[in-house]
Amino acid sequence: MMAAPARTLQIVPSLLAADRARLGEEISECRAAGAEWVSVDVMDGHFVPNLSFGPDFVKMSKKLGAYVDAHLMVANPEESAPWFCEAGADIVTVHLEATKDAKALCRAIRKSGKKAGLAIKPKTPVDGLIVLLDEIDLALVMTVEPGFGGAKFLDAMLPKVSTLRAEIDRRGLECWLQVDGGVNAQTIGLAAAAGADSLVAGSAVFSVGGVRSAVDDLRKRAESARRAKIAGR
Ligand code: DX5
Repeated sequence: MMAAPARTLQIVPSLLAADRARLGEEISECRAAGAEWVSVDVMDGHFVPNLSFGPDFVKMSKKLGAYVDAHLMVANPEESAPWFCEAGADIVTVHLEATKDAKALCRAIRKSGKKAGLAIKPKTPVDGLIVLLDEIDLALVMTVEPGFGGAKFLDAMLPKVSTLRAEIDRRGLECWLQVDGGVNAQTIGLAAAAGADSLVAGSAVFSVGGVRSAVDDLRKRAESARRAKIAGR
């Protein structure tokens, strides 16, 4: 089956790395750079060794005009996913490792009118995502052990990305393929060449000087790497 035309690459700033005292300005700068879609990392101190945002932060980000992908790194996604749907998240991404029944949970998220994302940590094989691709709008391959920004990109995750890209294209699915963790000027080309079309970046967007120039640079690098891959270079 012919693959669907490649989707516009999305650079997705992770607000975990943003200056929360200037959240409105940071989101405006992301939007000015064409990065309307932001990632809100929700951490509960159990599934990952860090605590971060709750539903109110999603509400605030929505009020500030962002398109919000709530990435739930929590041990109780069945209980907490509805909180983030109600808070206005546009995409609610849960972890395969934390769910009792990923298919049922993703269906419930979609039933609430939101897009459903499913994520896997580095040690989790990609098969668990492959079998559920029909049930989700976004597949997330973590390229770091989740919990903190600024960690090193794990190249060993790239075969998972390529496998998912091949399967999404073979089946002509409308599913974002996202990577998250350690994405920066040096690694984004690898992720895009492997087939990711949604690239989450925290430190590389908010900790390198201007947000707009950082997003522009990351997007250029990702697009150039994808073009080269398609051209077989
Ligand atoms: C890690 C988070 C990532 C992180 C990305 O647990 O899920 O989104 O914020 O931050 P960087 O891009 O700095 O690795």
